[in-house]
Amino acid sequence: MPIRVAMIASECEPWAKTGGLADVVDALARALGQAATDELVLPVDVFLPRYRGVPEPAAVERTTTLRVPDPLAPAGSTNVTVTDVAADGYRLRLIDHPAAFDRDGYYGDSVGDYADNAWRFGLFCRAALEALRNDDRPLDVLHLHDWHTGPAAIARDEWYADDPIIGKAAILTTLHNLAYHGWTPRDRLGQLGLTPGDGVVGPRARGIDLLRVNIERAELVNTVSPGFAAEALTPVFGMGLSSLLRTKGDRFTGILNGLDTTVWDPATDADLAAPYSREVRAGKAACRVDLLTRLGFDAQDDGPVIGMIGRLDPQKGFDLLAAASPKLLDQGVRLVVQGSGHPDLADPFRAIASAHPRQVGFIERFDRAMARRIYAGADFFAMPSRFEPCGQGQMIALRYGTPPIVHRTGGLADTVIDQGRRPVAGTGFVFDQPTAEDLLAACTTAVAVRAAGGATWEALLDRGMAVDFDWVRGSAPRYLDAYRRAIEIRGRALAGGSG
Ligand code: GLC
Repeated sequence: MPIRVAMIASECEPWAKTGGLADVVDALARALGQAATDELVLPVDVFLPRYRGVPEPAAVERTTTLRVPDPLAPAGSTNVTVTDVAADGYRLRLIDHPAAFDRDGYYGDSVGDYADNAWRFGLFCRAALEALRNDDRPLDVLHLHDWHTGPAAIARDEWYADDPIIGKAAILTTLHNLAYHGWTPRDRLGQLGLTPGDGVVGPRARGIDLLRVNIERAELVNTVSPGFAAEALTPVFGMGLSSLLRTKGDRFTGILNGLDTTVWDPATDADLAAPYSREVRAGKAACRVDLLTRLGFDAQDDGPVIGMIGRLDPQKGFDLLAAASPKLLDQGVRLVVQGSGHPDLADPFRAIASAHPRQVGFIERFDRAMARRIYAGADFFAMPSRFEPCGQGQMIALRYGTPPIVHRTGGLADTVIDQGRRPVAGTGFVFDQPTAEDLLAACTTAVAVRAAGGATWEALLDRGMAVDFDWVRGSAPRYLDAYRRAIEIRGRALAGGSG
């Protein structure tokens, strides 16, 4: 019997994106449709809040208005609209409730996180479950992502346990980021329809951690690389969840994200000045000239160019690159940095870029086309992340023939092979500690390998471009296995077994 899976997530590319979560939800949903035509009920459903920024969908299949339990509504319930959209390989189901989602930000504004996020994401989850009930078709797996979907796990167990559709579903929770827990203090529990002492929250609890409950209640939990799955069991990387994750035993695993090779392909990338491929790499030089010209750099200067792109979040280590930059600039390195997020993390780069306009380019926004030009036009791509559950930039950089310089952590350690340690297998440059010194040393080595050129450099690029992170062949079948296992565990638990 084909199994029916519904994903619930707070981001999905190209509709709503701040980070890698959006790419993964979109690419995985599409890859499942291609990998598992006989094994899954298709299309897979993906629920997403209809934030203000979500583009107007063209291919609307159906619009339904549902009455959804709402702990803050005087009547106890409220109207929510569900718009089903034929997306690229899956069904996008937009949950619309303007009071919750018609705002500037997804999670907050310049002042900070919205104070009613628990209510917003609680209502979102509740509406997704009501939409699934309303479909009146069996559901096998709820695939939840990060803290925003914790309320769905609570709801299944507390309010839908006897519901023939929701109550039977197994939960797979995927952890993309352990730094954000959706902590909801005691005085906001009402937003979730919870009260201290209600059986969900202890009588003396200070609040609820929505990421923690999502992990606790899931049949199966995974994170997005085997390397990070191992790290998450340690206090430093587990961010308060390491002991809980250890109690999960073999019900907590790592599944490496893929890379959508149709979305990320220098041979077909319309934003590039010239196409190129592993076989015919000549176009990369034109992309380099194009990037440097756009930045106002000397396009004829062959000196090394290091790119970096990401959310301006302490996780990503922008500060390490800023600290290493005086010595890098002394070595003649040029830097192209793109980031959006915390404005204070941008300050050092604003200063460096205005002091060295012909050596440092800083693009303080999320610019899809420019990001592609950086992946293609730079000579190296830096990812000095302090922790990185998987990371996508390094995979793109490999495919675009731009050797990554990465901290040996999580998914970065799983996907980049250090050229220094393994000269015949290396695909990039890997350093051990998240410090400016280690980053600088790795950049210096990388620059020297490029300057020496020759067969060593060519082989490094060739090996990088040959790495295959295909979703359909690689990760999607692993998720399918996880779904089956979660169903089995749920089935045993419902049959009264040990679970
Ligand atoms: C988060 C993680 C990143 C991962 C992405 C998608 O953004 O920080 O490492 O690649 O989720 O899973």
